[in-house]
Amino acid sequence: METKAVKQIVIFGGKGGVGKTTAAAAYALSIAQAQPKRKLLVFSTDPAHSLSDSFAENIGELKRSVAGNKNLDAMEIDPGKWFEELKQRYRSWTDDLFASISGRSGMEIQFDREAMRELVELTPPGIDEIAALGTISELLDEDRYDSIVLDTAPTGHLIRFLELPEVALSWIRTFMKLLLKYQNVVRATEVAEELVALSKSIKRVLALLTDQEMCEFVGVAIPERMSLEETIDLAKSLEKLKVPLRKLLINGVVSADAAKQCRFCKTRRKGQLEVADEFRKKFRRRSIELYIAPQQPHEITGATALLNHFESFAVFAGSE
Ligand SMILES: Nc1ncnc2c1ncn2[C@@H]1O[C@H](COP(=O)(O)OP(=O)(O)O)[C@@H](O)[C@H]1O
Ligand SMILES: [Mg+2]
Repeated sequence: METKAVKQIVIFGGKGGVGKTTAAAAYALSIAQAQPKRKLLVFSTDPAHSLSDSFAENIGELKRSVAGNKNLDAMEIDPGKWFEELKQRYRSWTDDLFASISGRSGMEIQFDREAMRELVELTPPGIDEIAALGTISELLDEDRYDSIVLDTAPTGHLIRFLELPEVALSWIRTFMKLLLKYQNVVRATEVAEELVALSKSIKRVLALLTDQEMCEFVGVAIPERMSLEETIDLAKSLEKLKVPLRKLLINGVVSADAAKQCRFCKTRRKGQLEVADEFRKKFRRRSIELYIAPQQPHEITGATALLNHFESFAVFAGSE
């Protein structure tokens, strides 16, 4: 895979367990080494198998100089947990707010309190992930990184949100409207400011992810028909959303060497390459580069294994 023309945002996405985190880590590390002047961040919102496992280093929330590379940082956020904390803050804000006006009575206040509590509980799906991604727009603004490699949670989540940004934005607007009625009450302005910031960062992230020049999406799949069907669906959603799908990686193909060593492996590789051919036919018309990566004999952890993994990505032009 190309290590020169790197976009500002490279998103790795696909179903769970296909090798997204590993591929994102391998890509980021290889770019960091090929281009020592480029400052990179690999950012994961996938709470499952983590960047820490891939790099065999504890990433925590932010780790600088990953695998000894001064130009590579890594960051891991569990959007669910992160957003739960945000909700907790909103909850205590609304409680404080209504506690401070509890002297006053009236149906309206009571109604507003209930409405606000409900709003905090009923946050729209996917807003957690996108809110966590909001962090990246700030990082780009601060010019801390030239490129951010994103490892996303299994597709559905992010896509669902991208399809319905209006839901999230109108949730914020409703919350704001209620809040503005109480603007003279302590902390209301503080909460309002935070909501404005949240809605800005949602809009900003949407703009970034759909920017054809700045962003590209790398779909990760496995050489099975089911995965092909899922990838076709993914490509359709991305096209509708205008998120630029530019590369597809079919991960875990039995290697040519392994195929020489056992009959079963040979048959398996043949079947997998047939599926890879179907991928190629399906995506030939679009401007998508297709790659395959072999199944490694071991789990891929640590810098050397990651670099080898990236080296093994080969352009797939058909199984002759
Ligand atoms: N080509 C490969 N060969 C062997 N193991 C792989 C390969 N790609 C990924 N793995 C392993 O598969 C597991 C799942 O990969 P991961 O990148 O966490 O998937 P995802 O992020 O899509 O859920 C990890 O243990 C990883 O080391
Ligand atoms: Mg993962």
